[in-house]
Amino acid sequence: NWNMTNFVNDQIELVRRQVGNRKVLLALSGGVDSSVVAGLLLKAIGDNLVCVHVNHGLMRKGESEAVVELFKNQLKANLIYVDVTDRFLDKLENVADPEEKRKIIGGEFIRVFEEEARKLEGIDFLAQGTIYPDIVESGTKTAKMVKSHHNVGGLPEDMKFELVEPLRQLFKDEVRACGLELGLPHEMVYRQPFPGPGLGVRCLGAITRDRLEAVREADAILREEFQNAGLDKKVWQYFTVVPDFKSVGVRDNARSFEWPVIIRAVNTVDAMTATIETVDWPILMKITDRILKEVKNVNRVCYDMSPKPNATIEWE
Ligand code: XMP
Repeated sequence: NWNMTNFVNDQIELVRRQVGNRKVLLALSGGVDSSVVAGLLLKAIGDNLVCVHVNHGLMRKGESEAVVELFKNQLKANLIYVDVTDRFLDKLENVADPEEKRKIIGGEFIRVFEEEARKLEGIDFLAQGTIYPDIVESGTKTAKMVKSHHNVGGLPEDMKFELVEPLRQLFKDEVRACGLELGLPHEMVYRQPFPGPGLGVRCLGAITRDRLEAVREADAILREEFQNAGLDKKVWQYFTVVPDFKSVGVRDNARSFEWPVIIRAVNTVDAMTATIETVDWPILMKITDRILKEVKNVNRVCYDMSPKPNATIEWE
């Protein structure tokens, strides 16, 4: 009979049979799918799983650190951590077009992963967090026409790996159940979706380090307060955006000219359409107060009221 315990045991057996004593490479972003694959393969093949975590500098606050803490320190995974923040931010300098930004981030990501893979000896397999909806491709077509998404998969011809995709039969909620079955922490398994280009598409226009810092700090405050209010368990996706213009304000009795922070919180079933979360005013006011006090160079906070359509979930 089909249950998650049996599924996990079967997949462990199948993976062992597929890879034997050979090595498997995995790009571990810290997203739900790649983390669950990592958890499963760790149980199946231990040290023969080689994880690479690429910190492109566009991660949320504490996110790369959490991946290293969980997988390397606690679960003792063979994890290579690469910090390529400067390389990414240099490449992105003065690039304002959203799709151009995506292309650079996606392309550079694959190049970094490829470089790391070439340094390793004797890797025969590439593990991927492919899930069932990725394969059937149904509802996702329109979303792809609006914005290009990226996943690892664009490696050069001469890097031929056999694929290991233990989640390919699962829907998203089953992937989460699988993660829990493997003993992964609840907050990791129920993590909200986070786009591949990360904060790069939430720091609007040409990315600068100080504006990126503002998005990251404001996002951390929003997440903390949503958690305090129990909204993290209710709202599908919530984040902050910092546009590339300033507005006039007052700070310490003097004129200020600083950025606004825009809060977005949406609910959706399939990301094709979305409605906004009607967050209670006192919660929004608390978040606003904290952002204005704690985030540098910000003098205004706005709430995005727009459903999808006509807006999209992200601003870029
Ligand atoms: P939009 O903004 O198109 O977003 O309404 C729908 C969902 O997709 C996520 N998203 C992305 N995910 N790479 C990704 O991996 C991307 O370039 C990208 N753009 C948007 C977005 O966060 C939302 O969950």
